[in-house]
Amino acid sequence: MIRISVEARDGAVREVSGNAGISLMQVVRDNGFDELLALCGGCCSCATCHVIVAPDYVEKLPEMTDDEDNLLDSSDHRTPNSRLSCQIKLSDELDGLKIKIAEED
Ligand code: FES
Repeated sequence: MIRISVEARDGAVREVSGNAGISLMQVVRDNGFDELLALCGGCCSCATCHVIVAPDYVEKLPEMTDDEDNLLDSSDHRTPNSRLSCQIKLSDELDGLKIKIAEED
């Protein structure tokens, strides 16, 4: 299991875990963080699964596609460490990942 520390919009932090191969968005949703809407279900077309990744982990993430980059540009809350969580597959390398759910647009 891969452990992930998730900070909700109210600042509460909870550790969750998921299996390699599933998306970060799915793990966050499966653990009851309903504020991560993920409206498109992971098709990379809504940007409501926006998270901010702790700096130490940014380099370990899969490379961003142009689609993800363009969608993130539509967010007023984009930061240099922003990612769409549906585009990140969990892998052993990401064990200990820390993320914060981005503000809603
Ligand atoms: S769930 Fe819609 S872009 Fe990630």
